[in-house]
Amino acid sequence: MEKTRGTLVFYVNQRKIVENRPDPTTTLLQYLRRNLKLTGTKNACNQGGCGSCTVMLSWWEKAEQKIKHANVNACLMLVCHLHGYAITTVEGLGSTRQGLSRIQASLIESFGLQCGFCSPGMVMTMHTLLQQNIQPSPEALEMALEGNLCRCTGYRPIVDAFQKFCKKDCGKSSYCGVGDIEDLCHCTIIDGGKHENTGEDKSNDTLRFPKELKNLDTETLVFQNNDWCWLRPVTIKEALSLMDKEPNSHIVMGGTHLVEKLKSRTITKGTLISCKNIQEMTIFERNEYGIEMGAGLTLSSVAERLQACYLSLDNGQGHVVTAMLESLRWLACQQIRNHATLGGHVMISDPRCDLCVVLMAARARAVVISKYGRREVEMDNNFFVSNGKTSLAPIEMLVSVKVSFYPKDTYISYYKQASRKGFDYALLNGCFSASLDSRGAFRSLDLCFGSVLKTTTKLAKCSTLANGMYLDDNTLGLVCDEIKRELYTESNGMASTYKQHVACGFLIKFWREIQNKLNHNKKEDINGLVWKPCEGQQLFQAPSPGQPSQDVVGRCIPLVGAPAIVTGQARFLDDMPRFEDELYVQPVFSTRAHAQILSIDKSLAIASPGVVDFLDASSVPGENKWGLILQDEPLFAENEVFCVGQVICAIVASSEQYAKTAADLVKIMYLDLPCIITNEDAVAAGSFFDYSSHPIDCGDPDKHFPYCDIVKEGQVRSGYQEHFYLEPSGAVVVPKNESGEIEIFTTSQAPTFCQTSASRILGIPRNRIVVRQKRLGGGFGGREYRTPLMFGFAAIAAHRLGKPVRMIMDRTTDFKTTGKRHPFLSKYKVGFRCDGKLEAVSIHFYINAGYTLDVSATILDNACFSVDAAYKTPVFSVYGHVCKTNTPSNTSMRAFGAAEAVFVMEAILCTVADTVKLDQEYVRQLNMYKEGSITHYKRELENCMLQRCWRDCMTQSKFEERKKAVTLYNSQNKFMKKGIAVMPLKFGVGYPVRHLNQGAALVNIYLDGSITIAHGGVEMGQGLHTKMIQVASRALGVPMENIHVSETGTNTCPNTTSTAASVSSDLNGAAILDACNKIMDRLRPYKQKIPKGQWKDWVNAAYMDRVGLSATGIGRSGNQHWDFEKGVGNPSHYYTYGTACTEVEIDCLTGEHQVLDTEIVIDIGNSLNPSIDVGQIEGGFVQGYGWVTMEELKFSSKGETLAYGPVDYKLPGVRNIPRRMKVSILKDCPNMGTVYSSKGVGEPPLLLAISVYLALRKAIQACRADAGLSANFDLDIPLTAENIRMACPVKLPTGKAAS
Ligand SMILES: Cc1cc2nc3c(=O)[nH]c(=O)nc-3n(C[C@H](O)[C@H](O)[C@H](O)COP(=O)(O)OP(=O)(O)OC[C@H]3O[C@@H](n4cnc5c(N)ncnc54)[C@H](O)[C@@H]3O)c2cc1C
Ligand code: FES
Ligand code: FES
Repeated sequence: MEKTRGTLVFYVNQRKIVENRPDPTTTLLQYLRRNLKLTGTKNACNQGGCGSCTVMLSWWEKAEQKIKHANVNACLMLVCHLHGYAITTVEGLGSTRQGLSRIQASLIESFGLQCGFCSPGMVMTMHTLLQQNIQPSPEALEMALEGNLCRCTGYRPIVDAFQKFCKKDCGKSSYCGVGDIEDLCHCTIIDGGKHENTGEDKSNDTLRFPKELKNLDTETLVFQNNDWCWLRPVTIKEALSLMDKEPNSHIVMGGTHLVEKLKSRTITKGTLISCKNIQEMTIFERNEYGIEMGAGLTLSSVAERLQACYLSLDNGQGHVVTAMLESLRWLACQQIRNHATLGGHVMISDPRCDLCVVLMAARARAVVISKYGRREVEMDNNFFVSNGKTSLAPIEMLVSVKVSFYPKDTYISYYKQASRKGFDYALLNGCFSASLDSRGAFRSLDLCFGSVLKTTTKLAKCSTLANGMYLDDNTLGLVCDEIKRELYTESNGMASTYKQHVACGFLIKFWREIQNKLNHNKKEDINGLVWKPCEGQQLFQAPSPGQPSQDVVGRCIPLVGAPAIVTGQARFLDDMPRFEDELYVQPVFSTRAHAQILSIDKSLAIASPGVVDFLDASSVPGENKWGLILQDEPLFAENEVFCVGQVICAIVASSEQYAKTAADLVKIMYLDLPCIITNEDAVAAGSFFDYSSHPIDCGDPDKHFPYCDIVKEGQVRSGYQEHFYLEPSGAVVVPKNESGEIEIFTTSQAPTFCQTSASRILGIPRNRIVVRQKRLGGGFGGREYRTPLMFGFAAIAAHRLGKPVRMIMDRTTDFKTTGKRHPFLSKYKVGFRCDGKLEAVSIHFYINAGYTLDVSATILDNACFSVDAAYKTPVFSVYGHVCKTNTPSNTSMRAFGAAEAVFVMEAILCTVADTVKLDQEYVRQLNMYKEGSITHYKRELENCMLQRCWRDCMTQSKFEERKKAVTLYNSQNKFMKKGIAVMPLKFGVGYPVRHLNQGAALVNIYLDGSITIAHGGVEMGQGLHTKMIQVASRALGVPMENIHVSETGTNTCPNTTSTAASVSSDLNGAAILDACNKIMDRLRPYKQKIPKGQWKDWVNAAYMDRVGLSATGIGRSGNQHWDFEKGVGNPSHYYTYGTACTEVEIDCLTGEHQVLDTEIVIDIGNSLNPSIDVGQIEGGFVQGYGWVTMEELKFSSKGETLAYGPVDYKLPGVRNIPRRMKVSILKDCPNMGTVYSSKGVGEPPLLLAISVYLALRKAIQACRADAGLSANFDLDIPLTAENIRMACPVKLPTGKAAS
């Protein structure tokens, strides 16, 4: 191995960093967070898939003699790559002390953050964009944001915040110009108010670029560290010589692919030869015949240079450049394109690679070098051998790629269909190149596909077939037939029908494109969906003119703590500094769905460096079982495992790396047993928990069906949904080593449940356990009852060893081990009249609980309570079965039970309307509840705003007019179809169990007049602390700035209900009111005594009189109670009502869709804070939209989840949200009996996304109508691109061979 030569020099936020022995495997993210303690850069996935770790990279571009900037994912970048670069992190932009940058301030003012875990990454992407372009276009903005995921906001407010810097901005947010609303631009920002734009343009990083880096040496660098060596040669010759000396070395370019192997410990030692900066490999040369692109160019710089080249090309010649640009446009996201290289992209030979398909179709040539010389090779089927393998020998290196320009009569086009538009690998990608002779016959036709066979492939037979044939429908049919045949045989029958259909769809588009270019009977343009910038509008009632200005209830107040969040100063769990003697615990997971454990061999693991302890069931001091309803879940498996991802044992070590390495060394032998994975499997095997649903007395539909005009039966399914809170779950557990006390910092929505479970597991009383939470980076129900998995192992280790212990679940582990939204299989029977009136409904739910009960029984009960949706059905029966399967235990998720049940009822309404051939909206309205209606559990609806929401939504959305336009569009378009649909919503708020409807609060007043409030709720982005401060501010009559919420802790508010079910403001707000009222009662005599005094004077006077300035409060919300035995009672406190109208467009050839427009009208009483509530509405809607469309999670037949993070599980991104979204909060409808007449809002809007399902169903129906198929069909969710395409009966062309 070479000896260390040179030092690594780079800058972070203007600070010079010099490393003599950098570790070649350390990523920039690790370095920032661990070495530099810059925890503003977040780690949400560590896979390059979410953008939360975005930082800006700046460098001196010698060739262009200028400073350049690019946003990159710190988790994909190796720190050794950084020689000569300047890094800017969110901490480099602004702080609460020195003032915020204009981007940070704008994000707060536009309410563009909730939990805030994504915010630093968002800020950095926007900051970089503005460094590149001081006034980007809205399209450039959305493109830049594609790589940044947000699970909370629904993106619209983020786009709004950043559009202010775009070209076409009016200077205000999109709220302006709408009457009768409060203009959010005039909001108060609390929390010190020091974060206005500082004026000083700290944002100009070109001016601040360290001069030293312009002239930094370009010598060879060699870094040695333990088992690794990093070599940075400066010439190709030198690189070849190093490759020769180190035969087992790896070339590293961007490292985005290689870094995965390092993280997964697939390669554990060796030599990395970094060639990205070799000048000869970063050429971009153009002559009259074509271009040559260096393998070391980043994909972004390839695109940038191609763009410049395209502009200088003659018409026609540039087709090939356009196709390359199109593929680069949709390749990953900007952060990845800014860092990954052309060489790395080609050499990974991944079948899904976007640009490779174009290079093959364009007959590009790879320039390859080795110590034996240079050669050129065509990038054809012989070049791409298989996934991960090209024809290059290990001693060879790719230097560049040559592409020839096209003659005028040659056409080339690129197509990609992914699960998500923007930042996704292709489900199928294709590039077709055709050359026609003067008669219009094919001289050549190259059809290249990716994502379907073992690597990028040209279909050879299709090409031969077309030669000499004309560009007509018969040839199209013949080639389609051959595509299907060839894909099927080449894949050994593995290419799905969907992929075959989409491949033909691409060809139809290609045909049409050429025909239209040649002006052959110009037809419908079928090049997919047209992008429009997204826009939003929000209408809500301003506070009455008489409301004093200092009274903040009902006003748009940005989140408290937002300045700390957008500057990266806010601390999430893993941002807590490490304790000196801190240990790390790493669980070892079952790899089998159901098996007997034959043996556990820990010998290698415990001998591994840094290992301190080994834990298994015998290490649990208390009970090894936990659970909410049943204590049926073992912390450590004993003898048998019941799902993949179940914890068997754990390693405690002095560092995360040591613990993970040792955990890999534990060897477990299993004896496999039969496993049950799906609801269908469970039904077939009769595998159920003994918790079928409780009765609801609403007649017997079976007796009524014979008297109904029409009776229909069907079934629909809804799928899993991963919570995907951005902050990883985990815990830091600190033993006090005094009276057996223990302090648990964990990511939990349910501190009391954590305390209870910890007490049970550790065998110590609850009064020795304090569970503390500052904030959570999202929760969505996933951190309610699964938390023992998040803190339990660390708690046992801490208790046993007397040292602080940390455990943070990486994203893959979280996917593998934690439960998700329950998949539902729902069978229904509905009886109705010929006029569409519902008469009787019977429904059976089968819900997949996983291997333990968790809260599945409650979820089923909630489904039964909510299943009537917004409709009156005189006779109703609903039964449910909790299926026991060998998958991780599924758990609560936002709007659990209700979302799944309402989906079923809406599907039933479709069946009814389509059967009687009436408009769906007519049938919905016909059956809709109104004031005084009685629900299926015999509750009379009072103050029912349903009809009002419906009417307003129909009018505001101009439904009838738009429906006509949609019908017209569908009659004129064969392959593109639109759908529009409207749905009403009734959502019951409040727990059906009486004792859960209580909140707790503690209010402490200090003698300087400042106030601390504590309550039972956890802040996870929903703005709870902000609302609670607003409530206390009005109740005490003091400004918000005087009030602070420090954290949630079981020591301040005991025995609390978890933060869930949309009731936290109701419960905790009532508790705060109670405590404040007690204090106000105590202060009243002093206010009377000192009428001209101020708050502080009264407080001090009371103190001098020995009056308590601290009060606890209890909030009792509603009187509801349900008798589960008798099936009678009232399960909800009140209802939140709403209506949504959605319009969509689909591409029937590929299954792609776009939501064009969503109009929401919602009744949430008197909103405590309209902007926060709008955020919940939009964010909830987009989360529901993900569930309804793209968030598909599958398990293999062996019980392994097939997705492990954002790369293979698709959350909606900025590109997917409705292009226009309007939210109107209903005016003048106070909700009596709650805190300041407000209503719960966290969950109901999620259900409104079912309107997307209904609109998609309408669009599919239009396609079915063209094919003469019945309008009536059952359709499951998620409606992924594949499911939409397969529901569209597009007849593919077939041809007749000449006889
Ligand atoms: C989150 C994520 C999303 C992605 N999405 C997409 C997508 O939508 N579409 C898509 O097409 N791709 C996608 N990719 C893949 C991406 O294109 C590749 O990761 C990237 O192009 C690899 O380039 P690199 O420079 O980082 O390669 P590196 O990691 O540096 O190298 C990759 C491999 O190639 C070898 N190698 C590199 N250069 C040479 C050379 N000159 N000669 C010989 N061997 C060489 C290396 O030894 C290594 O084995 C995605 C990747 C990630 C991480
Ligand atoms: S943490 Fe780096 S992209 Fe998700
Ligand atoms: S605010 Fe974006 S993930 Fe929570």
